[in-house]
Amino acid sequence: MAKIGIFDSGYGGLTILEAIRKELPQYDYLYLGDNARAPYGTHSFDVIYRYTLQAVKYLFSQDCALVILACNTASAKALRTIQQRDLPLINEEIRKCENAKMVNVLGVIRPTVEAVPGITKTGHVGILATPATVSSESYVLELQKIAEGLQVTQQACPLWVPLIENGEHNGPGAKYFVGKYLRELLAKDSQIDTLVLGCTHYPLLKEMIEGWLRYHEEIEESNFPQAIHTEHIRIISQGTLVAKSLADYLRRHPEYESRLTKATPLSTDSTACGSCRYLTTENADRFSQSASIFLSSPVQAEHIDLE
Ligand code: DGL
Repeated sequence: MAKIGIFDSGYGGLTILEAIRKELPQYDYLYLGDNARAPYGTHSFDVIYRYTLQAVKYLFSQDCALVILACNTASAKALRTIQQRDLPLINEEIRKCENAKMVNVLGVIRPTVEAVPGITKTGHVGILATPATVSSESYVLELQKIAEGLQVTQQACPLWVPLIENGEHNGPGAKYFVGKYLRELLAKDSQIDTLVLGCTHYPLLKEMIEGWLRYHEEIEESNFPQAIHTEHIRIISQGTLVAKSLADYLRRHPEYESRLTKATPLSTDSTACGSCRYLTTENADRFSQSASIFLSSPVQAEHIDLE
């Protein structure tokens, strides 16, 4: 029987895992963070694709029937190639083995983008993401596909992931760089009313971002002469959207759903919780400690090597 694999370059995917486990607690999960090689967001396409494919293949080798790329950078740079080039080959090999079943990989960008048209009133949308996600233009292209006429402005935030990976997301450095990137984005388009946190690490900065949007005018009035009103701006983070989209996928694909292991409830009106294992390419103790910032309960991670 099979599990759901959740992959991220580091800790960010835990924000997606948490939301998925809330929505679909009954399944078994295997989380893999490639922390030793994070951040991905400043790497080239070739490197991100190679690392992501290694992780995906590893998760398949550990009985994952579905892998969620809980990483926008990997979704933007590697998902399409993996789906179009690698999955057909992997599934062809699988078909040759007796009793082996098909596997699939899903990303996080499409479910996020689908929520945008229902939220923006001005039609002006801001995307905050890693440099790699921004350069892929995935958000711009996907948004144009589903809602013509939206004005999409992107802002690369190269220092947010390193700050979060190093536990500095509440510190003065994070505060400085939250203000810097938001100011740069809003200087490009002051009519933005909807902000997409297009990186699974960024929910850790959500409170700080909301704080800046609410209070920066008072603090900065003197050196921000054309005051931009920001307190009405809505923030979209991905966890719930990806979780609901996965639930919908499983409803539409019983060939996957029926193969996933499910915990048995104690009574008919309760839902039992499945298991979750945590793998990291970094030091397992370090991961276990830092993961507690992202999750509500402590975890014990295991170290693996990817190649
Ligand atoms: N959580 C990843 C994302 O959603 C971070 C990428 C990185 O490692 O830079 O893009």
